[in-house]
Amino acid sequence: MKEPTVVLGIETSCDETSAAVLVGDELKSNIISSQIEIHRRFGGVVPEIASRNHLTAILPVIDEALTAAGVTRGDIDAVAVTYGAGLVGALLVGVSAAKALSYALGVPLYAVNHIEAHIAANYISCPALKPPFLAVVASGGHTGIVRVDGLNEFTLVSTTVDDAIGEAFDKVARALGLPYPGGPIIDKLARSGNASIEFISHKKRGGELSYSGLKTAVVNYLHTQAQRGAAVNVEDVCASFQKTAVDMLIDAAFAEVRRTGIKTLVAAGGVSANSYLREKLRAESERYGCTATYPPLSLCTDNAAMVARRGADMLKGGVAPAGLDLNAVSYLKIKGEAK
Ligand code: KG4
Ligand code: ZN
Repeated sequence: MKEPTVVLGIETSCDETSAAVLVGDELKSNIISSQIEIHRRFGGVVPEIASRNHLTAILPVIDEALTAAGVTRGDIDAVAVTYGAGLVGALLVGVSAAKALSYALGVPLYAVNHIEAHIAANYISCPALKPPFLAVVASGGHTGIVRVDGLNEFTLVSTTVDDAIGEAFDKVARALGLPYPGGPIIDKLARSGNASIEFISHKKRGGELSYSGLKTAVVNYLHTQAQRGAAVNVEDVCASFQKTAVDMLIDAAFAEVRRTGIKTLVAAGGVSANSYLREKLRAESERYGCTATYPPLSLCTDNAAMVARRGADMLKGGVAPAGLDLNAVSYLKIKGEAK
């Protein structure tokens, strides 16, 4: 294969249709067509509507990514696509487009795990990053700590027993009457609140990472206040929930730092856009003498740049390309995952 290689990345796992072009290590384009406005009125992503919108957006988004990168279809050396985890109908749109392009162009197809792609986003923003490192994974569907020992070696070492952290942000926002997605608005309101309310989480009672318990604690608090006719300070609820949710995950990360001696950390996934998470990760890293990095906001939430990057690493590492029988998978394990 010629150098530098041109990798087209495609991402359609949830409500963002995205295509990106990576030439060698250089990100040339990253086009994201978001459906957030369409789903907002339903308070969350409606899978069937997401699939239909991906269908209309996918080809124009791919064309725009190629044009913005200054390349043509004939220049593409490999196609990388998210095949899981995510909404099956949504994933299938990207997978079908990727398979068609791979077949028509006679180039290899790389089946990308969405969470590994979120982690790989850090290689784009921090070219000096090298394994081993620990990834703090915080997205709408996944939460935990992943140990990365090589370009293609990911092992889950700690995970939530129930809801994902992003799901908890979205559910708490909904309980507070705030719009979808909940993460960015809770982040914003929390800045003018005090983290003075103690929400007892499952984790604090000695269990594993759990976000369902924390969400229930917030909902119970809101009910109790309503029954008492007491006012609710929304900013304080946001700050208190956010602190508990993030501290739980950062504690798990530094428990792993102590256990493994690994001193490099990255953040990955949509919730890694959270300002308190970034600040807490930075401060704790300083305290432990660790180096922490996180992607710029545009590479935290779903995007195809991270998918192209992950595909390029699979190619570089000699991972076998996928066949044209590649299918979408709603739940995808990372090595070490019990479920
Ligand atoms: O990674 P992502 O874009 O999609 C999944 O792979 O799930 O993550 C989406 C999640 C949503 O739950 C959203 O509320 C959350 O990321 N999110 C945030 C912030 N920005 C997005 N959560 C907390 N603070 C933010 N600033
Ligand atoms: Zn994601």
